[in-house]
This record gives sequence, structure tokens and C-alpha cells, in this order.
Amino acid sequence: MQNHYHFTAGPTGTWRITSINAVQGSGLESAAALDITELSSTSPLPEPVWMLRGMVSNVRYATRPELTDMRAKQEWLGRPNARRAALIPIKKSAAWWDLAQDERRAIFEETSHHTAIGMEYLPAVARKLFHSRDLGEPFDFLTWFEFAADDAAAFEHMVGRLRATREWTYVEREVDIRLER
Ligand code: HEM
Repeated sequence: MQNHYHFTAGPTGTWRITSINAVQGSGLESAAALDITELSSTSPLPEPVWMLRGMVSNVRYATRPELTDMRAKQEWLGRPNARRAALIPIKKSAAWWDLAQDERRAIFEETSHHTAIGMEYLPAVARKLFHSRDLGEPFDFLTWFEFAADDAAAFEHMVGRLRATREWTYVEREVDIRLER
């Protein structure tokens, strides 16, 4: 399947896991390393410690001007100096999914300023969003970020600001996994 990724935690992998922190709800078992593979290219380890799946999908909330601004400012994954990463799987509550699309957008941006906050940290932080909800996964989203060690404090600051928003009152499970390579 195209655009379909496996996040596989196990004894070996490209990224060394430095911490796994349960922010909300239950956490994930500790493991030494993580690999991200496209489903079509390689099969995952036979017995991973855990494996999460996600796919790249269309945007839901960003407006044309937001997308244009973001694309002008954002950096790509895989920058040689971006040796730190965060994988933050998130599950939102039934109350969130019961809202209408326009209500979710209003909470996401007009109230919580998710994109506006995040944009302040571009291009230092490179990001990619994977959707998991429709795959029947334990999380709705897998969020992935890469940054240089020098930008780790700024990343921490951003995550703190986002977790204090109204949007995050709808987050019922969140695990914060930090990595290095
Ligand atoms: C690097 C700065 C960031 C920027 C520029 C950014 C931007 C965005 C944008 C534009 C979307 C909406 C995509 C759409 O229209 O469907 C989005 C979704 C999302 N972001 Fe961020 N974000 C950033 C950081 C973060 C962080 C640090 C987290 C987690 C701690 C996060 C978690 C999410 C989640 C879970 C969604 C999906 C929300 C949903 O569909 O309900 N983002 N982000």
C-alpha cells in the first residue's frame, strides 16, 4: 500500500530511543531503537517490541494561505544535522470525533492556534503527520519531528504550548518518544 508506514520498535534500528514518556493514558513498552519503513519496501521485524502503522493523508484543517506559508518555511526530513527526533502518537476522544468538521477547525486553529504556534518553530523543526485512525490502530495520529540538538529546547517549548491549548483537552492518550541518531 502506498504512503503506508510502519514504526517498528525493537533491539536495532536507525533511531536510538532515548526516552518513552506516557503523557496521557497508557504508555508504550521500552525498546532500544526504532525504524520507519514503507510497507511496500520492507517487511517489519518478525517480533518487534511494538509496531505502529500510519499513512500520509490529505490535509483536514489548514487553509490555502496557511499551507502556502507553511510550505514556504518548512524544511524536509533527513537533514544531516537534525539528529534528534520525536515520535508522538496521539489519540483524541470520542467527544472530538463527534464534533462537526467546522467545530474541530475552530478549536484547532481559531481557539488553539495550532498552526500559528507551530509555524514559529519552522524551519528549525521538520514535521510529518501520519493518520492511523482509519487503520483501526490504537492511536489516531503518529506525529514525527526532526531537529538539531541546538533546537531541542525550542521544541520542548512548543510542545508545552500546544499541550496547554483547548485542542489538547480532547487528547485522551499521548506518548512522547524521543530519539537520536
Ligand atoms: C513543527 C511545528 C508544527 C506545525 C507547523 C504543525 C502544523 C500542523 C497542521 C497545519 C496540522 C493540520 C493538518 C491538516 O490540515 O489536516 C497539524 C495537525 C496535527 N498536529 Fe501539528 N504542527 C506542529 C507541531 C505539532 C506537535 C509538536 C504536535 C504534537 C505534540 C502536533 C500534533 C498534531 C496532530 C495530532 C495533528 C492532527 C490533528 C487532527 O487532525 O485532529 N503538531 N499540525
